[in-house]
Amino acid sequence: MGDSSLFEIKKVIIPVAGLGTRFLPLSLVVSKEFFPLVDKPIIQYVIEEVKNSGIKEIVFVVSPKQKMLMSYLKKSPELEKLLIKRKKDKQLAELKSFEMLFEGLDISFVTQKQPLGDGHAILQASKLVTNEAMAVSFGDDVIDSPIPALEQLINIFKTTNAPVMALKSLPKEVIGAYGNVAVEKISSNLYKIKKIIEKPSPDQIQSNLVIVGKYVLTPEVFNYLKKAKPSEKGEIILGEVFDAMLNDGMPLYGYEVKGEWLECGDKLKWLKSFMYLALKDPVFGEDLKKYLKSIK
Ligand code: UTP
Repeated sequence: MGDSSLFEIKKVIIPVAGLGTRFLPLSLVVSKEFFPLVDKPIIQYVIEEVKNSGIKEIVFVVSPKQKMLMSYLKKSPELEKLLIKRKKDKQLAELKSFEMLFEGLDISFVTQKQPLGDGHAILQASKLVTNEAMAVSFGDDVIDSPIPALEQLINIFKTTNAPVMALKSLPKEVIGAYGNVAVEKISSNLYKIKKIIEKPSPDQIQSNLVIVGKYVLTPEVFNYLKKAKPSEKGEIILGEVFDAMLNDGMPLYGYEVKGEWLECGDKLKWLKSFMYLALKDPVFGEDLKKYLKSIK
């Protein structure tokens, strides 16, 4: 094995076990990762990004109730037969191209018995990811970019060999709802992280950069997650353990990823992301723009 294998990222952890309470009542029946963005569930964009970044193994962290993901990943031979019999060629082609997405991907599952936070969810995957750096992507964060966001982070990791998190720049007025970072600029989009403040009050804001739910992490993160104390709400939050890592002198980097950040964490963000992609869609975009102009 050459040195380059040290930096190879083979696995991604994708937590999808959250409650999605900001989407009630819909999230009672559909977990938010399965909400549509145009004609695909959010999670499909995340899986496509993983695959296009060259990652071969996915570890999903699921809740005990998560049945949808299993049926989504299962092949549909009966439906395929029916489509052939009914000569529905277009739908058959669509089904086949969808099933191709999972070819060459090795998918496994771990259960998070209780929704005790995104950090707690990631910790559950530690038994399947030992002693190697890994990618992490939340199940509801999409970046629309010709170079997949995880690939951008992996390329940076090859130069830092230390954890790197995706960053985006946002207007000051909204930063209070995010994990905000104090940084030292290294090069055009790359920063050394100095401090992280979750949901800062206006006087605590450090920069216009916030953390996006995509990372390349090293296995030390699991030790910190194990030791982490739950927040006031009883959750172990990934963003909060980074501070402990910084306090121990560990280097952490942030990379302002290129691409449009399509957030799907609450109703308005999801609707905007849906609209963004719908209006850009090669099939529906033009008609939808005309329709939008026509409605009062
Ligand atoms: P969020 O904090 O956005 O999701 O988690 P949530 O807790 O489901 O949402 P609200 O606040 O109740 O509306 C980011 C990612 O982490 C996963 C979510 O499924 C999402 O992909 N997550 C969160 C878990 O897997 N387990 C948890 O306990 C919390």
